Amino acid sequence: MIFDEAVRQLAAAGVESPRTEARLLYAYALGVRRDDTLSAGLAPSAEQAAAFAAMVARRVTREPFAYVTGHKEFWSLDFVVGPGVLVPRPETETLIEEALRVIPDKNTPMAIADLGTGSGALLIAALKEFPRAAGLALDSSPEALGYARRNVFAHGLSDRAKLRLDDWGAAPQGSFDLVFSNPPYIPSAEIAGLDPEVSRFEPRAALDGGGDGLDAYRALAVLLPKMLKTGGRAILEIGAGQAVDPLFEGSGLRLAGIAPDLAGIPRALVLEKA
Ligand SMILES: C[S@@+](CC[C@H](N)C(=O)[O-])C[C@H]1O[C@@H](n2cnc3c(N)ncnc32)[C@H](O)[C@@H]1O
Repeated sequence: MIFDEAVRQLAAAGVESPRTEARLLYAYALGVRRDDTLSAGLAPSAEQAAAFAAMVARRVTREPFAYVTGHKEFWSLDFVVGPGVLVPRPETETLIEEALRVIPDKNTPMAIADLGTGSGALLIAALKEFPRAAGLALDSSPEALGYARRNVFAHGLSDRAKLRLDDWGAAPQGSFDLVFSNPPYIPSAEIAGLDPEVSRFEPRAALDGGGDGLDAYRALAVLLPKMLKTGGRAILEIGAGQAVDPLFEGSGLRLAGIAPDLAGIPRALVLEKA
């Protein structure tokens, strides 16, 4: 059966949960929910079988599962993703949780920025939570911004989300109440040792944080105090074990907290402009 053969191929390629992934890809190919693939008598058409085989063939190369399906869920929202953009990670949701914690009134009118927006995950999730906010997302990657544009449109946020293909240094000054950034933070030399899904497929510009992984934070320590309004906040993702907060000492931003992700790893740095 093509399903068993797919499981065998995925396992041989080193995919961690080959049976689960084969079932999910099978569901995608058939256009049914995952549980429905167990239905007795469910037989794929020749076209569906070919689509399934094509997806398995891509996944066997260790191309990210989300690139193969073209979708990733973030903050219970669907995002279109694919080659050229970082797949949004569950731990990044910690930044949205922190925004909701430090700004409990969801009706607060706010100007939000998302520096290095990738798929648009952070800005879109934030605008869904804060219906009176508007935002600007910047990314220097045209491919990434293309996905962000599609996602902003799909979520009906074109009137509240502006997208700009630019270095985040070009963001307007003194304009923002809340700035998110999940910058590239992996030390350059460590990238080759990551899972092939990441090292061989995800964009280098989304991963590479320079020699010690902290280059982007040094730039943000200069940029954020200029971008934020007085009393404004920045919420930044940090990598496991990274001592990022000392880089902001003397920047004009006060450390307001470091929140852990679901695995207990310090993940979201909250800074406030006094
Ligand atoms: C780690 S990814 C984060 C993507 C998305 N925010 C997320 O959390 O899924 C970092 C993003 O920053 C962008 N980027 C890196 N350096 C940049 C810079 N100097 N100016 C603008 N964007 C930059 C990359 O192209 C990439 O899309």
